[in-house]
Amino acid sequence: MSRHTPSMSVMVAAARKAARGLQRDFGEVENLQVSLKGPANFVTAADRKAEKTIFEELSKARPGYGFLMEEAGVIEGADKSHRWIVDPLDGTTNFLHGIPMFSISIALEREGQLVAGLVYNPISDEMFIGEKGQGAFLNDRRIRVSARRELPQAVVATGIPHIGRPDHQGFMTELGAVMNEVAGVRRMGSAALDLAYVAAGRFDAYWETNLSAWDIAAGIVLVREAGGFVSGLTGRDDMIESGGIVAGNDMLSRKLGDLLKKAHKPS
Ligand code: IPD
Ligand code: CA
Ligand code: CA
Repeated sequence: MSRHTPSMSVMVAAARKAARGLQRDFGEVENLQVSLKGPANFVTAADRKAEKTIFEELSKARPGYGFLMEEAGVIEGADKSHRWIVDPLDGTTNFLHGIPMFSISIALEREGQLVAGLVYNPISDEMFIGEKGQGAFLNDRRIRVSARRELPQAVVATGIPHIGRPDHQGFMTELGAVMNEVAGVRRMGSAALDLAYVAAGRFDAYWETNLSAWDIAAGIVLVREAGGFVSGLTGRDDMIESGGIVAGNDMLSRKLGDLLKKAHKPS
């Protein structure tokens, strides 16, 4: 069983409330699929609504905490030592296409340090939570990163840049290096869930670049609390600033990081 702090209870309640709206709206998207215009506007509205719910719930429970949210951006709070980092819908493309692989991601930062993370998939009803020093849990069961130590046995997740996103060539270079060395590469479409899956030992490792703080803040806590290691692509602890991330157990994250660095070095 997980023992969690009152702050985590607040995060769980906010996520569950927003999830109810997303579940309803996801059902609608499936009906809207056939319309020519597609459900894009509808999804934008669902995303905003979920963010508003999370914002209201967290503000009610913890007045004064600041926010960094995907849609609303930075909202300063009177309490300068606490900040919520929120992605109300991570995996928008999946949501829009009726693919049931998306999540709500909420992290808490205290004095600039990530201390709690929650990633919730409302469709599979999988709630991943972790708090600094308390371990990581999936629906109240303790989770740990995978114990595999060799890349040829590893399933590695990533994100693929798409239209309107930078550095397609850089990604091709990375993929070219990684796919040659591993058991399989996966692209699920939600960075927050990718990290939660690493924490649960489903993915052995994960890397991606050009991410935002709200995509990865909660997942970083989960991986660390599941006994894993997280860094930026150069090996530094700069994931939030650089938007690049490599995650896995100690051994695999180092091996994957080295492979990526080597791939980018001019030969
Ligand atoms: C995206 C997802 C995706 C990642 C993208 C993100 P969004 O977030 O996390 O897996 O590859 O780079 O932008 O737009 O669905 O919230
Ligand atoms: Ca989002
Ligand atoms: Ca996102």
